[in-house]
Amino acid sequence: MRVEVAAVPPADAPRDRTCLVVDVLRATSVMAVLFGRGARALYPAGSVEAARALRGALEADGPVLLCGEVGGLPPDGFDFGNSPLEFASLAALPAERAVVTTSNGTPALMACSGAPLTLTAAPLNASTAVALALEPGRDVLVVCSGLRREPAEDDLLAAGLIVARLVETGAEPEAAARQALERYRAAETDLAAALRASEHGQRLVALGFGEDIDFCAQPDRYGVTGMLAVEAGQPVLRPARPEGGER
Ligand code: MLT
Repeated sequence: MRVEVAAVPPADAPRDRTCLVVDVLRATSVMAVLFGRGARALYPAGSVEAARALRGALEADGPVLLCGEVGGLPPDGFDFGNSPLEFASLAALPAERAVVTTSNGTPALMACSGAPLTLTAAPLNASTAVALALEPGRDVLVVCSGLRREPAEDDLLAAGLIVARLVETGAEPEAAARQALERYRAAETDLAAALRASEHGQRLVALGFGEDIDFCAQPDRYGVTGMLAVEAGQPVLRPARPEGGER
């Protein structure tokens, strides 16, 4: 099995590879936390307006949280922003369903909706995401969400961690995957510091979210990840665990 890294989301989703979508700061880290706290459906939306409309439509079937960020901060009227630490600190999730819109992470996920299997991945649930990605036996593309459609150091580092886990299982890294792996190896003794030093990390520190970065750097805190499905034309992430994984 081969593994490659896309530094930004592909224009066309690969039809023959499993996609692992990474936005370590912070969308796929938040998703790891939400599923770890019991969420059963996360609906990615392409814009704040689309998110508001989708929440309105979904509310007919019960409570739905409205979550996400623009410029790192929650838009007006949203229940939550995009802080993994905030979700991890709640006594309990106020609802099991959420609509999520973010600047880079949710567009990256939606760009991969045509792949045969698309999973969210972050250091927080790296082993679980990798185990699930291996199950179908296809080659794997680790898709970095990037920053404003450009490669981003934080996602390349996290992609390198995912590649490291895949290589441990015998996967063969292609050129960009080898580069991401080298980047990660150079930073792995203090991943949090390397994430903080990235452009996105610096921006989050300036906004007061430095502790989110330290939280996102922890490997394998959660044993669940998100699997993308399209239900009645609507993209939705459902919680997924490897066969025999923890419940
Ligand atoms: C994104 O999608 O760009 C991020 O998750 C933004 C953030 O919350 O820092």
